[in-house]
Amino acid sequence: MALSVAFIGVRAFPSPTFTKDVAPIVRDHCVRCHRQGGIGSPIEFTSYESVRSWAKTINDAVSSRQMPPWSADPNLSLKFKNDARLSAADIATLLDWVKAGTPKGEDANQPDLAAAAQDWQGPGGRKPDLVVSMTHDLQIPANGDLPYVQILVPVPVLEDKWISACQARPGNASVVHHMAITEIKVPDGMPVNDLDGLTAFMHQMHLPTSILQPAVRSESQAIDMLAIYTPGFATEQYDHDSAKLLRGGKNYYLAFNIHYTANGKPATDRSQVAFWFRDSPPKHQILRVAMSGETIVANGKELFTDTPGEKAEGTRVVVPPIAPAQADYQLIGVTAFTRPITIYQLHPHAHFRAKAFKYVAVYPDGREQTLLTIPKYDFHWQLAYDLQQPLTLPAGSKLVVTAHYDNSASNEFNPAPNKEVAFRPQNLSTDEMFSPFVQYSENIDQSPGLPVVQTVGCLAQNQNVWRLIHATVPASVSVQATGSAAVQKAEQAKPGSEEFQLIGLSAFNPARYQGQVVVARGVEIQKRLNVTSLVTTSAACSP
Ligand code: HEC
Repeated sequence: MALSVAFIGVRAFPSPTFTKDVAPIVRDHCVRCHRQGGIGSPIEFTSYESVRSWAKTINDAVSSRQMPPWSADPNLSLKFKNDARLSAADIATLLDWVKAGTPKGEDANQPDLAAAAQDWQGPGGRKPDLVVSMTHDLQIPANGDLPYVQILVPVPVLEDKWISACQARPGNASVVHHMAITEIKVPDGMPVNDLDGLTAFMHQMHLPTSILQPAVRSESQAIDMLAIYTPGFATEQYDHDSAKLLRGGKNYYLAFNIHYTANGKPATDRSQVAFWFRDSPPKHQILRVAMSGETIVANGKELFTDTPGEKAEGTRVVVPPIAPAQADYQLIGVTAFTRPITIYQLHPHAHFRAKAFKYVAVYPDGREQTLLTIPKYDFHWQLAYDLQQPLTLPAGSKLVVTAHYDNSASNEFNPAPNKEVAFRPQNLSTDEMFSPFVQYSENIDQSPGLPVVQTVGCLAQNQNVWRLIHATVPASVSVQATGSAAVQKAEQAKPGSEEFQLIGLSAFNPARYQGQVVVARGVEIQKRLNVTSLVTTSAACSP
């Protein structure tokens, strides 16, 4: 008899208590935002009383999966090590606790929520090895559109350091919307109070801006963006024997590029970035680059590299503005790799009008793999997605990123549906951006890499395989995209005797060019082209 009572006792689970069951979930999944100075403030989950006072809302927010924020579609994405979604068991615990009347439990059990609420959230709770702050408080006016501010701060170390974790932190989260921190090297004797002043000085002295060198470049000349803060972004930790490089020395500066949003009251900000170092060099150096595309297709039209006008930030082309009330504006960025790379993190960034993002890899054999799908992009949660397993793309692969924008009134975040929205070289928060960041390492394998080529031929389709027939001998080119001058020249090309299989064409909507003479560019892999540009000439294929 006693046995069966004990058995029933086990089956009737005791209600969860705050200290034993709920606080660990809150510590691991909520406090990094819901703390003083965090983006979830003034809702602060750092004590029993404060969590209990939000019990009903927590119930709704976690059962609807509105909290914690996580925008990736798990069925159309890779697996991420920072996946923020609560497990079904954790959700059940929170709901049971609310249902049971939010019992507190024994104080002795309570984990340290205050530790999780610390400003610096380094690996294992370690204090940062280096914190760099802006040298003065910046005054932010109460109203108006603020330009992108750039402030230089000297790097306070004299030797190069390998970074194992880093965290950029706004001084005043109510006005800092996002920031990007790059490292630059300035020549001796330059005045460096701020970058704008410096740029003006260089103009005055007739010095080229190219003397302001980015501090960290890869072998392929890609420029590393050191640190980023966007809403919802946490400390970055680099695993798998990888790290980022901080150059040390007296001419090195951190450039804080900050997007402020006025909040109705005059404010001040002094933002910071913290680094955690490792002692030995890593096997892989990680670079952060916005892969907006070597080629960009806007609403189905490939953009030429030689169209006059101001090029959008981080691109080779003039990106047309989004018309007022335009509900679906699409950009596709295509970047091919002539040597292998390994991807560690994906982090799409855009402004108010963006509504969806997708990253797809196209392998040299034509296979496509969706890496990340964000069906409903939300300006307020610009999370980074850390791959559980780094993904190596072999030479001849390409990355295709698609973004959709909604400038209509049905976009609830749209501040001005009646306005045209520009993509500028130095954008404002009211402009748009197409910045699909990728953190990756280059697998420098000493090989010269595959060639990027241009060939002109007749576009034909046979059993769902696209081919370029009667094509000219492929000519090596240095740019993956095409300009109108190159197309004009190609009009004169005589039919050749080469033939190529074309792969990864969906961005270029090839069906409309079938039976026409086209100019194709791409990485060449033994008579296959992983296509980076496909433009029609005025000629029809000769029979
Ligand atoms: C990445 C940052 C972040 C994380 C992690 C996060 N929150 Fe939030 N949360 C916010 C922000 C910001 C708001 C305010 C949202 C708004 O104003 O729309 C918010 C709002 C809420 C609200 C109020 C919702 C409402 O309808 O008013 C609740 C409740 C909440 N969070 C609970 C949680 C819980 C519980 C967790 C952990 C399981 C969590 N949050 C994790 C950022 C976060």
